[in-house]
Amino acid sequence: MLNTWGAGSSSKPGTFASFASSIPVHETRSTADIISILQLKGDGISMPIHPTAKIWHNGNLIPWEKAQIHVMSHVVHYGSSVFEGIRCYAQPEGAAVFRLPEHMQRMLDSARIYRMALPWSLDQLCSAVVETVEANNIAPCYIRPIALRGYGEIGVNPKGVPIEVYIANFPWGKYVAGDAADVCISSWNRLAPNTMPSLAKTGANYANSQLIRMEADANGYAEGIALDVNGYISEGSGENVFLVRNGVLYTTPLANSVLAGITRDSVLTLARHFGIPVVEQALPREMIYIADEVFFTGTAAEVTPIRSVDRIQIADGDPGPITKQLRDEFMGIANGLKPDRFGWLTPVRVNAEQPVTA
Ligand SMILES: Cc1ncc(COP(=O)(O)O)c(C=O)c1O
Repeated sequence: MLNTWGAGSSSKPGTFASFASSIPVHETRSTADIISILQLKGDGISMPIHPTAKIWHNGNLIPWEKAQIHVMSHVVHYGSSVFEGIRCYAQPEGAAVFRLPEHMQRMLDSARIYRMALPWSLDQLCSAVVETVEANNIAPCYIRPIALRGYGEIGVNPKGVPIEVYIANFPWGKYVAGDAADVCISSWNRLAPNTMPSLAKTGANYANSQLIRMEADANGYAEGIALDVNGYISEGSGENVFLVRNGVLYTTPLANSVLAGITRDSVLTLARHFGIPVVEQALPREMIYIADEVFFTGTAAEVTPIRSVDRIQIADGDPGPITKQLRDEFMGIANGLKPDRFGWLTPVRVNAEQPVTA
């Protein structure tokens, strides 16, 4: 029902409230209907933001439209933020956030690398995410916690600049369009070691991701895979890369300038659980062309099979058996249709109405 979305009573053009109020009152639409309408408004790979009622800011829930920063804030000029992207899934018995403590620990780790002292513990940050999701009453949704350096000094040195922590969430569906992706190797390299730390999920790193993604898009690909500075496979603009050859699952180690993906870790855990041999090693570019299966992992991409790389088809072009096995298990756990045997789910009290499918 519309009123489960907490969209508030204002109806400014372009806001979620105005979208909700554009639905005739005699029509009753479920959350599922609204999410599918919202997705149709994008091109299947875009991430439109749909305002919700509340955003968490430094310990308090504030109205969505009040969550603003000044143009002279440090983060605007120098990319000084650390953030997370988390999914909350609708499930038969309610809704659950996927691997919440792991995400918030990574945000604390990113903050530590950048000498940002966050005044919140892991438990407090996890509780704040749950509080935000429950206040906005939306599932499935995407959750975006961010810590940023705010308004204070214009110098690059952020000493004395206040740190602001926000948590927002909004309804959201698929990231990579379709069942399998046609991708390219990017002409842009991933971050070189000891330049921009790739284990930190900082806003500044996404300048590189933007170059990779925009080039892929301009050339008609769904995504780009960047090589590291030594020419080994690194990762997509927002995904880790896996490949399968002769029954062995390969992915790049953290030393190849990748983010330590939570989904990457989930897939490695599932593969070990199934007894699939796993190898983390530097992967030469050409290994991807001769792989039996290739797929992306990421909070946004989940487990997305790759059909071709640089217009070279991967095997017969269809998702392979190991990809499917791992994707089905991953999606089954996330959607609450398979046992949460690794303790990955944090339940939230949300009136989820989205039909649940694996
Ligand atoms: C550059 C990059 N690599 C990999 C990933 C996948 O990480 P995760 O599975 O934690 O979403 C992401 C997404 O956050 C990313 O931005």
